[in-house]
Amino acid sequence: MLIRPPPEIPSSEITDPQVYAGRRDFVRTLALGLGAASLGLAHGAETRSGSSRFEGLLTSPFSTRDDKLTPYQSMTTYGNFYEFGPDKDSPAKNAHRLRTQPWMLTVDGEVKTAKTFAIEDILKWAPLEERIYRMRCVEGWSAVVPWAGFSFSELLKRVEPTGNARFVEFWSLADPEQMPYVRIPLLDWPYVEALRLDEARHPLTLLALGMYGEVMPKQNGAPLRLIVPWKYGFKGAKSIVRIRFVEKQPQTAWMKAGPDEYGFYSNVNPDVPHRRWSQANERRLGEFLKRKTLPFNGYADQVAGLYAGMDLRKNF
Ligand code: MTE
Repeated sequence: MLIRPPPEIPSSEITDPQVYAGRRDFVRTLALGLGAASLGLAHGAETRSGSSRFEGLLTSPFSTRDDKLTPYQSMTTYGNFYEFGPDKDSPAKNAHRLRTQPWMLTVDGEVKTAKTFAIEDILKWAPLEERIYRMRCVEGWSAVVPWAGFSFSELLKRVEPTGNARFVEFWSLADPEQMPYVRIPLLDWPYVEALRLDEARHPLTLLALGMYGEVMPKQNGAPLRLIVPWKYGFKGAKSIVRIRFVEKQPQTAWMKAGPDEYGFYSNVNPDVPHRRWSQANERRLGEFLKRKTLPFNGYADQVAGLYAGMDLRKNF
């Protein structure tokens, strides 16, 4: 596995440990049942969504520093979340129906002991970082987003996969009461995505609880979603309720929907066109001109080694 050494971080950008400790205190207060304002979050009129801001996010060595951030407004009004409808504005219109509290995440399958975590518990141990990542949708649009989250490997420290675990599935909630389009077979619900265990373990693989310093907007996959920046955006399952370790390579929701169009790997690859969309170029949300798409979405230095010796045309 090729991992670029972390770049030098100016000391001014490193979160003061006291601030970080303060966030953990907030979280503890929440655990004691003292209310949402103590989720390690600060309520403030200044937030764009009216939701809460994270306090003391750590600065990540894995952030891209060269790209202009996509406007918050674009990221929250244009997207895909088919459980809330098929149009790009359906998630923003309909996701208010999602109830994100309480929320439980079950981790099971090939693990020594299955575990269920409340989001509040995750906030107690997860070292939350701001990670600025490029994201590339298979449909040809892209974005640069400051996520707030933690490496999947942090979760791995708290569950013990058995020797049989080779893949990891990520299951989104599929509740027709809250998600009206789950009644319609747009996809074979629930929305399930999956990674090989070594991909999941890669330090870039992120479980995100927020973006732009705030709690995740519902339309973007609150309260917890997956982000795998070198793969097409659809690998990033939203509103996850279950993580299952398995032995055999899973069938994902998109592989079932279009086996010729959506492969298991779905690494961003400008040389392998999708049947409907060239992957050579992309247009950033909020911008007019197109730009070239980079292999592995610009993360080749870090991740190409995961695929050494593999035919990436066959394993698309
Ligand atoms: N997760 C669920 N549960 N349902 C979805 O429809 N859409 C995927 C992915 N995760 C989707 C999902 C697709 S196609 C993309 S491009 C990204 O979410 C979009 O994320 P964004 O709206 O935050 O940009």
